[in-house]
Amino acid sequence: MEILAIDTGFGFTKATNNSKSIIFKSILGESTDIQFKGGILGESSPDENIHIEIDGQSYFIGEMAERQSNVRSFTLDQAQFFAAHLKPLALAAASRLSGSFLPTGLITGLPIGYFRAYRESVIKALQGDHKIVLTSLSGKREEKTIRINEVKVIPQPFGSLFNLMMNDLGELGEKKYVHEKIGIIDVGFKTSDFTVADKMRYSERGSKTTDTGISKAFGMIASKLHEKSGVNIELYRLYDAVDKGSIKIKGKEYDLKGPTDAVFSQLAASIASEVDRLWTDDWDIDTIVLTGGGGAALAKHLQPLINGQIVAVDPGKDPRLCNVKGYWKYGKHLWSRGVATPPTQDNGESTAG
Ligand SMILES: Nc1ncnc2c1ncn2[C@@H]1O[C@H](COP(=O)(O)OP(=O)(O)OP(=O)(O)O)[C@@H](O)[C@H]1O
Ligand SMILES: [Mg+2]
Repeated sequence: MEILAIDTGFGFTKATNNSKSIIFKSILGESTDIQFKGGILGESSPDENIHIEIDGQSYFIGEMAERQSNVRSFTLDQAQFFAAHLKPLALAAASRLSGSFLPTGLITGLPIGYFRAYRESVIKALQGDHKIVLTSLSGKREEKTIRINEVKVIPQPFGSLFNLMMNDLGELGEKKYVHEKIGIIDVGFKTSDFTVADKMRYSERGSKTTDTGISKAFGMIASKLHEKSGVNIELYRLYDAVDKGSIKIKGKEYDLKGPTDAVFSQLAASIASEVDRLWTDDWDIDTIVLTGGGGAALAKHLQPLINGQIVAVDPGKDPRLCNVKGYWKYGKHLWSRGVATPPTQDNGESTAG
């Protein structure tokens, strides 16, 4: 069985089959008839150009939707996201990494706070055969059947933990994470997820999902820009601008370095105080893992505010991929070797579904 891992985040959809990983913005768009699809000079990456038909509906996905669709759908509302966005985003990712009719085991995750409410519906949406049609830049149609035999859903931040403690064969390499009490802070675009794994046992008390993701900070930047320029900027158009430190709107350049620093330090302060409150009784945590794309973006502001030994993402790697890489290793652990040892809940039940 092939192993495929998909992390459908509110900001970015991430997927890997271990030999290849892809990332695209979690945006769906209405497909339109385009005369020139690729780059004006030469080809652009196929991962930026996903045109897919699912259940008879045709979508542009990711950067293609951002650039080309008149009607775009990007949501930070969880009910809408899980009902309408998750399946097309996940299948678009699968279509890039899976062969037709290949039996596949899928590992995916949910924020801790949404785990109980959405686990069943995620499995239902993704398990089984999915007939899709991909249209390439040149207009060639390719039919494929994505065959998902089994779906496992795990709490998202465990992905980063598995990534740290397992190797590419799904074997436990870094034993310290197995024997220690680990706190994980996963800052994403919408959510921040906090969890504690005490010698591989999940602690409900120390786990929580809040809405203190990077979009909070982007929202404040967007409203300042709106005041100054009169233009309403969609939040997903700010990633590059914030990274660059400036944005050009209708020919006028606005500095973003100062405002970003201010809102990021404000966001880091609220995350740090959430951590303080949530882990009051867990003063014996050995190591704190700071992960997620937002974790890396806030690291500089967050690290001085958190007491404890912090492991941040390796700066040479894309921090957004930590969870999905761990999902894949967990899948390998589960399906290639036949023995599974997921974190157990206090009542001894497996949390992984
Ligand atoms: N190369 C990059 N391009 C864009 N954003 C990046 C990059 N590197 C880090 N980031 C940061 O990563 C954040 C998104 O992180 P991530 O992909 O973990 O969120 P998500 O999983 O989609 O959100 P959630 O967990 O709330 O569902 C962005 O808001 C940005 O601050
Ligand atoms: Mg995430």
